[in-house]
Amino acid sequence: MPFFGVGLTLLVLTGSSFFVLGAYYQHHDFWHKLQQLIQEDPYAFYIREKLYDALPLLNLNCREQSVGNGSRMSEIMKYGFPGLDDIRVYSDFVLSYDRRNRVAHWVYEHLRAPCVQSNGGGASRHEANYQPDMSVPSNFRADVTDYKNSGFDRGHLAAAGNHKCHQTHCNETFYLTNIAPQVGKGFNRDAWNNLEIYVRELTERYGSVYVCTGPLYKPKRQMAGFTEVENSRRANGKWCVEYEVIGENTVAVPTHFFKVITVESKLPGGQPYMEAYIMPNAPISTNTNIRNFLADIREIEHIAGLQFFNGLRRSFFFDTNYTTTPELYRNFQ
Ligand SMILES: *[C@@H]1O[C@H](CO)[C@@H](O)[C@H](O)[C@H]1NC(C)=O
Ligand SMILES: *[C@@H]1O[C@H](CO)[C@@H](O)[C@H](O)[C@H]1NC(C)=O
Ligand SMILES: *[C@@H]1O[C@H](CO)[C@@H](O)[C@H](O)[C@H]1NC(C)=O
Repeated sequence: MPFFGVGLTLLVLTGSSFFVLGAYYQHHDFWHKLQQLIQEDPYAFYIREKLYDALPLLNLNCREQSVGNGSRMSEIMKYGFPGLDDIRVYSDFVLSYDRRNRVAHWVYEHLRAPCVQSNGGGASRHEANYQPDMSVPSNFRADVTDYKNSGFDRGHLAAAGNHKCHQTHCNETFYLTNIAPQVGKGFNRDAWNNLEIYVRELTERYGSVYVCTGPLYKPKRQMAGFTEVENSRRANGKWCVEYEVIGENTVAVPTHFFKVITVESKLPGGQPYMEAYIMPNAPISTNTNIRNFLADIREIEHIAGLQFFNGLRRSFFFDTNYTTTPELYRNFQ
């Protein structure tokens, strides 16, 4: 009799274990396939309804049901994911969080004219507070105390001024997952702010703009001019990455920031226009034209380890001259 009992227990155990294992492998397999699909074909947005319907099955941090009529994620991510590390979905932007640096890898926004205008929607940044995102595990979470007395501004990646349609949208840009240490005077309050204003102007002019913003930790060549001790330590002439970290949680201070901007054409069937910027996280003298910071998107991909519109397929949608040709911008409609 005891023997029979044990057998039954075993049977029940193995039955449920197989069920759990099966669910795990199905989940794992699905996640793997989805990753592959997005990697191989960011233009998978043609089938995105199917793709995104499946995403809630995955363990994503999803807040998007909180405001409005359901998901904006499929819209925001129309041009594909630059990377897939710790994806976090907010009501009006999507980001990938870098646990090591306590700063996002990238933040994606889809801007529409009514929500970027100064009188748009009525949301105010003065009603919002900087706050840690408690959904990030505490040992990887930045806190407001990290920024205190650091000498750096709490710089928005998704700008608060881009999300004026709902107070909740505006509030969410103040989560520290969307914040990075930025030099205040000459950068966050000046040159970088000018770039954000330029993006809003594009949005008012063309109606629909996708913008991806993130930090860079850019290698730098060690130069002569250090003391002998410094030079031997720094291995003069070699490339290396150096950046400060602030606060108890060692939040990384990026050396640069990038924006990849995709402007949709107003013409039916018109191709989108794309350009990219890299700015140093440093004081930039006033009157510097932001177009001096136009950058090759491949440089951003290389430094950040991200991929925009997947390499060669990019030329399907974008002229190979997308980087620095002002004519393209002038002729774009
Ligand atoms: C939700 O949908 C309704 C009906 O289509 C619309 O009137 C309303 O403005 C939408 N709300 C938001 C926040 O998009
Ligand atoms: C926005 O944040 C402020 C300050 O934390 C809070 O008082 C307000 O209720 C929030 N508004 C919305 C719509 O979430
Ligand atoms: C890129 O620009 C150069 C110089 O303006 C031009 O000769 C070339 O045809 C352009 N390439 C494409 C693919 O438009």
